Amino acid sequence: MGMIETVRSVVRLKPIVLDPVERRLAKAADVSDLRRMAKRRLPAGVFDYIDGGAEDERSLERNVAAFERIEFKPRVLRDVSKVDTTATILGQPRPLPLVLSPTGFTRIADPQGELAVARAAARRGLPYSLSTMGTRSIEDVAAVSDGPKWFQVYTWKDRGLVKDLLDRAAATGYEAILLTIDTAVLGRRERDVRRGYTLPPKVGLDTIIDGIVHPQWTLDFLRNEPITFASVATNNSASDGSSAVSLSAYMNSQFDAALSWRDVEWLQSVWDGPIVLKGVQTVADAKLAVEAGVEAIALSNHGGRQLDGAPSIIELVEPVAQEVGGQIEILCDGGIRRGSDIVKALALGATGAMIGRAYLYALGAAGERGVDHVLDFLADGVERTMALSGAQQLSDITRDLVTWRATPASESVGD
Ligand SMILES: Cc1cc2nc3c(=O)[nH]c(=O)nc-3n(C[C@H](O)[C@H](O)[C@H](O)COP(=O)(O)O)c2cc1C
Repeated sequence: MGMIETVRSVVRLKPIVLDPVERRLAKAADVSDLRRMAKRRLPAGVFDYIDGGAEDERSLERNVAAFERIEFKPRVLRDVSKVDTTATILGQPRPLPLVLSPTGFTRIADPQGELAVARAAARRGLPYSLSTMGTRSIEDVAAVSDGPKWFQVYTWKDRGLVKDLLDRAAATGYEAILLTIDTAVLGRRERDVRRGYTLPPKVGLDTIIDGIVHPQWTLDFLRNEPITFASVATNNSASDGSSAVSLSAYMNSQFDAALSWRDVEWLQSVWDGPIVLKGVQTVADAKLAVEAGVEAIALSNHGGRQLDGAPSIIELVEPVAQEVGGQIEILCDGGIRRGSDIVKALALGATGAMIGRAYLYALGAAGERGVDHVLDFLADGVERTMALSGAQQLSDITRDLVTWRATPASESVGD
């Protein structure tokens, strides 16, 4: 056989993929690939708004890095031919122990914004949380998603507005609310400070240059209706976000820093369904949440965007679960980038996990199909990790499946 024929017999040409989104996604093996793609496609100010954290970004960095310190103690020879990832979240069966966290201003990552994320979540049967600062309204999201939906509330000084939002969420089938409690005032996101970044982005010289470098984003931004806080836009008592303001000026003027446990009681009096307190960061407050009688807590530091130097979320799961596990559902919200991270959170005592940036990077990288891609990636990751560690179902993911390493592997190498 000639050399050419020998080569031909082992080399197979890959089929040429014409669809550019499919081509891009085929190369996105993990969340960091999606992040890199989003960084290329989005204007720098928009990417930094999504990617950044508060002050020195220690909370953000540690939220992610702390997962490295957890090592599996995999069990083998356990017949993992069938792995079942079915979870119970807020008392409801879900295909995966995963909830999509609320993120404000999602339309800056993609013109469809919250609608794209809600549809992708619904296709998988996973709860999608719509933010009060959402750029699609309560009703518009409900119209495109018959999947489970949660609504996230910030408490405006005007409680009438909050009550109105809750009534609208109840009327359109949202099953739970998240009260975000880590945002008494807005954290200082210094990437935004440096850029003088406003929401919606203001057009200045730097924006124009950024726009030329990112033509697709700019076209989408100009072609679509203006970005506003869609759910509050119809109400005159709060600015709807249609004029460019710095986020910190807006939130600090509208939001109630006097928020306290009494307001949780008020919320219980005006909302019939389950309540999740999002932003619990200590065992002490987790105990108070149990006393208050809410259904769940989301351990969260807002993805490192509020208090810098806050406890890393995965390190908080075990002490909180030891104290209140079994009395309240515990969601781990912060730093989840892989299916194995979700399994680690469950092993330490969480009921489920939540993701913010993972789906935002995916949305910025490839729109709605990007979100489908990242949800598939996380679901596969949970299933594979369970198979490789000998867990057939979530109840097999117990504390003895993992152990804490003393130092991150990357630090101990080369010492
Ligand atoms: C761009 C962006 C906007 C966010 N907006 C909100 C919001 O409006 N309300 C809220 O409760 N949390 C908000 N968060 C926090 C997320 O709900 C979630 O707590 C956080 O992203 C989890 O960390 P992760 O990004 O590492 O997954 C936002 C996060 C990001 C990255």
